[in-house]
Amino acid sequence: CRLVVLISGSGSNLQAFIDKAGDAEHPFEVCAVLSNRADAYGLERAAKAGISTAVVDHKAFADRDSFDRALMAKIDAFEPDLVILAGFMRILTGSFTRHYLGRLLNIHPSLLPKYTGLHTHQRALDAGDESSGCTVHFVTEELDGGPPIVQASVPILPGDDADAIAARVLIKEHIIYPMAAAWFSEGRLRLDGECAQLDDKAL
Ligand code: GRF
Repeated sequence: CRLVVLISGSGSNLQAFIDKAGDAEHPFEVCAVLSNRADAYGLERAAKAGISTAVVDHKAFADRDSFDRALMAKIDAFEPDLVILAGFMRILTGSFTRHYLGRLLNIHPSLLPKYTGLHTHQRALDAGDESSGCTVHFVTEELDGGPPIVQASVPILPGDDADAIAARVLIKEHIIYPMAAAWFSEGRLRLDGECAQLDDKAL
């Protein structure tokens, strides 16, 4: 299964995909890494792993539509089976999300449907929640609103700040995100209307 990964920053989730790609439990390869920022550290991670990279700088485009069209052209040139948003900090247009419907995943650092958008862990802290977490979901037009696939939760401990929670959650992200991509690669995971469907593993 061919993956294209989109990033904007550190790329620690990307690193988890790179480290697991091609092992017995993760039958996918990362074909390319695209970023909207030339200074994203994840681009260095990709280059170190010998993976093709490209930058599509959103600031070079007049509007979201033309940026998304350029991004789609770059992605499609790599003929991916699955597109992975891994800390990609741009809101995508409906024509983008429709084009990749059923083959576009995102990870969001909250237990969706709680806390769509930004500053999720701080908001969980402010609300007095006892746990936070992350959600892998299919991407639809609705921001952070597509059908969830898998979640992991972590406790919020006394003395935690948002960074401490984020670090605890990231460890879980690095497990569940490649896992969901592996399910897709095995042909077990698909978008079925408004639901994510996961088949049993063939015996
Ligand atoms: C993660 O917290 C992810 O949930 C969110 O953006 C962050 C990306 O981190 N969507 P990294 O670039 O993978 O380290």
